[in-house]
Amino acid sequence: MVISNDIDLSLLDPVLEKYQFEEGALIPILQETQQVYGYLPEEVLVHLSREVRVPLSQIYAVVTFYSQFYLTPRGRNIIRVCRGTACYVRGGRSVLRTVEGFLGIREGNTTADYKFTLETVACLGACAMGPVVVINGKYFGKMTSTRAKIVLKAI
Ligand code: FES
Repeated sequence: MVISNDIDLSLLDPVLEKYQFEEGALIPILQETQQVYGYLPEEVLVHLSREVRVPLSQIYAVVTFYSQFYLTPRGRNIIRVCRGTACYVRGGRSVLRTVEGFLGIREGNTTADYKFTLETVACLGACAMGPVVVINGKYFGKMTSTRAKIVLKAI
C-alpha cells in the first residue's frame, strides 16, 4: 500500500514476516524498519503498531528512549563531531564551527537537500586523536578546520 506522501508500507512486509509472532522483537523490528526507510516515519509506526499489536504509545516510548532511532529524515552523509573535553582543548570547537559554516546548518540538523546531517557526540572514544570527526563511520583524527573543509568538499 502506498499512502499519500509516497511512503510505501509494503516495504515493511519482509520485516514483519521475519519476526512474525516473536515476542520481544520490537527493537529489532524497529532497527530493521529504520534501515528500510532511513528513519521511522509516523505513518510507518502507526502501521507497525497495528501489525505487531503493540500500542503506538509503547512504540514511541521505545523509539524516544533509544538514541539509535530517528523520527525525522537524516542526511545521506552523517557527520559526527566530537565535543568532548580532549577534543575541545585541541580545537574541536573551531572545527565544529567550520563544519557548521560549510554545511550552513547548526549541530543536530540536516541540510535541506538531505545530503548531510551534522551531529555532535560527547566522546568518540579516540581522545588521543582529537579533535575527532567521524564521517559516515570513518574516523578522521587530528582534524583541523582546513582539513575538514577539504574532506567535506570531496563528498
Ligand atoms: S573527547 Fe573527543 S574522542 Fe574523546
